Amino acid sequence: MTHPAPVHLQTRELFRLDERTILISGGAGAVATSVGESILESGGDAVFIDMVPAPKPETWKSIQAIAAANGTRASYYQLDVQDASNVDPVFDKIRPTLRFPLRGLVACAGISGESDACDYPVDAFRKILDVNITGTFLITQAVAKEMHRAKVTGSIVIVASMSGWNSNKGINTSAYNASKSALHQLARSLAAEWGHPQNTFLGSTPSELNPNPSNEPRAIYPPIRVNTLSPGHIDTPISEAARVRGLTSEWSKQNMLGRISQAAEFRAPVLFLLSDGSSYMTGADLRVDGGHCAW
Ligand SMILES: NC(=O)c1ccc[n+]([C@@H]2O[C@H](COP(=O)([O-])OP(=O)(O)OC[C@H]3O[C@@H](n4cnc5c(N)ncnc54)[C@H](O)[C@@H]3O)[C@@H](O)[C@H]2O)c1
Repeated sequence: MTHPAPVHLQTRELFRLDERTILISGGAGAVATSVGESILESGGDAVFIDMVPAPKPETWKSIQAIAAANGTRASYYQLDVQDASNVDPVFDKIRPTLRFPLRGLVACAGISGESDACDYPVDAFRKILDVNITGTFLITQAVAKEMHRAKVTGSIVIVASMSGWNSNKGINTSAYNASKSALHQLARSLAAEWGHPQNTFLGSTPSELNPNPSNEPRAIYPPIRVNTLSPGHIDTPISEAARVRGLTSEWSKQNMLGRISQAAEFRAPVLFLLSDGSSYMTGADLRVDGGHCAW
């Protein structure tokens, strides 16, 4: 059975997130804060998670004020997305507090690092892959299990980067670029598994790593859509070091709009991907880069 298309929705409802909860990883960061506020303004409750113990007090005050003004709710939990053993306990804490089922994820948690490839310390390289790829996977996995448990449809937005498509001029970030490219492929793979039961063959071939895979027929769940967002350069604290070196003004010359972007410019793309407005979009990448990669 396929899930019905939401053709009955009125245009003004296409970007709304009423009666659903959206989880935002990397929730104390610049993009997550801006996007989280727009989720609260669009009728969704928002659960922010991040490795830092708490968001900045002034940021949290603003988030709470927006939630109060819109009749929505915001909560915050500390979680390091690398810490696989802590994911379930944190979700166990979150679950009983929710008014509405978890139906969306914006996976923002990510780190970068710069080194010439020949000198790249292996531990630093591995850490970037672990946070950006495995950490993102662990959160998508936990969120998908919640959606399956509640038998609801959902939308997962993985924040990748245009750096998954190109190599940034003037900054040597091979691990970061590789990790963001991996997120594009992770999203396509998860979209294929979680879109419809027809998408996988029954049974699995045992392997050394997984000698006893389940051969149970797959349970049938409502579809979860999975897409990536690939921003171009954004004016956030992560790009501060680049600005000091004059790189941000160079980057402004490398795209068609002559400037780098602001975090707030990703509100609409994320709302589109989370909401029913993008109901027929899955396994795709939405590149929002001022034309950088089109040149
Ligand atoms: N800033 C840019 O130019 C740019 C461009 C393209 C894509 N992006 C991507 O957008 C996303 C958000 O970036 P941002 O600019 O808001 O950066 P940011 O540093 O402001 O936010 C990232 C957040 O992730 C959190 N985080 C890092 N490691 C974590 C972990 N192990 N567990 C949990 N949380 C962790 C940080 O504490 C931080 O709050 C990132 O994935 C980034 O790669 C950023």
